[in-house]
Amino acid sequence: MKFTLSVIKADIGGYPGHSGMHPALMEIASKELEKVKGKLIMDYRVLHCGDDLELIMTHTKGVDSKEIHKLAWDIFVKGTETSKKLKLYGAGQDLLKDTFSGNVRGMGPGVAEMEIEERKSEPVMVFMADKTEPGAWNYALYKMFADPFSTAGLVIDPSMHTGFTFEVHDLFEHKKVLLKCPDEIYDLLAIIGQPARYVVKAVYRNSDNEIAASTSTQRLSLIAGKYVGKDDPVMMVRAQSGFPAVGEVLEPFSFPYLVAGWMRGSHHGPFMPVGFAQATPTRFDGPPRVICAGFQLADGMLEGPTDMFKDVSFDRARSKANEIADYMRRHGPFEPHRLSAAEMEYTTLPGVLEKLGPRFKKI
Ligand code: F6R
Ligand code: MG
Ligand code: MG
Repeated sequence: MKFTLSVIKADIGGYPGHSGMHPALMEIASKELEKVKGKLIMDYRVLHCGDDLELIMTHTKGVDSKEIHKLAWDIFVKGTETSKKLKLYGAGQDLLKDTFSGNVRGMGPGVAEMEIEERKSEPVMVFMADKTEPGAWNYALYKMFADPFSTAGLVIDPSMHTGFTFEVHDLFEHKKVLLKCPDEIYDLLAIIGQPARYVVKAVYRNSDNEIAASTSTQRLSLIAGKYVGKDDPVMMVRAQSGFPAVGEVLEPFSFPYLVAGWMRGSHHGPFMPVGFAQATPTRFDGPPRVICAGFQLADGMLEGPTDMFKDVSFDRARSKANEIADYMRRHGPFEPHRLSAAEMEYTTLPGVLEKLGPRFKKI
């Protein structure tokens, strides 16, 4: 059967500060989704990563459905009322517009969706991050779908041997390009190595064009014209039988690579894979976290989640991430710990430069 998996998320208030989630917000979301389960939606789960509320839903309305986006928007608005009552931090921070205009894209919340024909068995991994930006998935997606040193199936499994195509979005110019791999991996790397601008939106299997992965690509700063928090992206990846195995989907995260975000959205730090209970970025508001909820879909119902990064085999990645965090923190306000000037465009930096402008003398 055909149905859509939608993950829509927003930061509607942190507890405390930007570090975590108040249980009241999760309760509101669950209660609202329960009301429409079996009607507007087939199934749902509510999770959080740091201060981000994550609505995972299955339904038959297709991607970009006005009804589904409105459902999520209304839940975020309702949650914000409670968030304001409890004086949670940054209540409603990701709701950038006052009224819903048909689609949450460009309004603040993040969204990743895919419409699929459910296979005989359909394992899907849903990744959720906090304190980083949408381009944070670029490295992992390259490893999963284009690097045979990470995904053995690219070499061994005949159904993956023809490779995958990456849909890359230019967030500055609002353009997209399809790059067919392995033929075009050098071109792909040339652009996705700049994750602040070029973001992998989706991945398709070359042999039959089936969608394999989908991500959220919002950049709040580009929507709002000023810094309004990092975008804390989500991603969904189908696994097994012609897609990377679950273990191949997770393998890239065994290396806590550097991503942009962390304190004030202005620092590079290690991307730390954690279990659900550790999705609480506290040190220097971080380091950036990623959780993974593993599901088996059964006629559109969500069996799960399994807390994929809770496993001991990711302990070393966490400990390495802590070591890298120590090392990076020692740089204080110096690049490359602090983001480059171009990436700080929407922070206080332009203001500082403007203020100092008249005091700069020719040499
Ligand atoms: C990063 C983030 C936090 C805040 C920081 C300052 O994405 O959300 O690191 O930027 O806690 O927050 P304000 O300016 O709200 O005091
Ligand atoms: Mg926040
Ligand atoms: Mg957040």
